[in-house]
Amino acid sequence: MPIALVTGATAGIGAAFVRLLSSEGYDLVLVARDEARLKSSAAGLPGEAEIISADLSTTGGCQLVEQRLADDGRPVDLLVNNAGIGLAHSFVNNSIDDEERLLAINVRAVMRLTHAALPGMIARGRGGVINVSSVAGFAPMLPGHTYSASKAWVTNFSESLYTSMRPRGVRVMALAPGFVRTEFHDSAGIDMDKLSDWQWLDADDVVRTALADLRRWRPVSTPSVAYKVLGGLARHVPRPLFRAVTGRASKRIGRNPN
Ligand SMILES: NC(=O)c1ccc[n+]([C@@H]2O[C@H](COP(=O)([O-])OP(=O)(O)OC[C@H]3O[C@@H](n4cnc5c(N)ncnc54)[C@H](OP(=O)(O)O)[C@@H]3O)[C@@H](O)[C@H]2O)c1
Repeated sequence: MPIALVTGATAGIGAAFVRLLSSEGYDLVLVARDEARLKSSAAGLPGEAEIISADLSTTGGCQLVEQRLADDGRPVDLLVNNAGIGLAHSFVNNSIDDEERLLAINVRAVMRLTHAALPGMIARGRGGVINVSSVAGFAPMLPGHTYSASKAWVTNFSESLYTSMRPRGVRVMALAPGFVRTEFHDSAGIDMDKLSDWQWLDADDVVRTALADLRRWRPVSTPSVAYKVLGGLARHVPRPLFRAVTGRASKRIGRNPN
């Protein structure tokens, strides 16, 4: 059986990866902080499931997962760097510790775990890494600030690795969805009441598209036509126009953009 390791595996997009990969016959390694929730997620799966309780905002937590990724006796075929957080307030109103924690989870853990996984995949001449980014990384979004910048890093990092890993048989892809109904915004304390229904994606649909795009060797996956168009605009409209539009749009998601 192929093995997939998913971070942030107990909720939202990560849990959808676990469900779909398990239904495709993967054995799973589930990573998150809450051990009880990890155990109950693993218990519901038909195949083999290991759990690693680790806080990916810490070096020690990352190392626990890196050790598993470097274990050639039970090689991981697919790494899904999914765990990520947002913050409730704008940059100047968050504590610097919270800003650093966001970077540690959204950027440093992605870098460390990818670094641990790739050597084995290169040696085997196959494997895959999906790094969960966001359309928020396509341009400087308000009021995300550090969040948007962290996802720009994830997409850029993944796309550049895609180019160097493809000749070695290893797929690296950034998954850049729009808004997905998960625990993410509640956990951060972000009020999303003003968002329209069409703006919300379903986590299972997002993951289905991501897995299909990975198989097609896509460097970046943006599920749904609406977000493909919005993502394209974010990447290509002149920046002064983009800044004017995002300044207004940010007022719809309940935070002071400044
Ligand atoms: N939801 C959206 O609208 C949206 C849109 C675009 C991109 N994304 C991205 O999608 C990814 C998944 O988000 P989601 O919406 O599915 O989030 P979610 O529903 O809040 O789930 C987060 C998962 O990550 C785990 N986690 C949180 N902090 C962690 C830490 N320090 N160490 C290890 N695990 C941790 C949580 O479990 P524990 O609490 O037990 O650790 C949980 O399993 C993130 O990278 C996010 O930026 C989300």
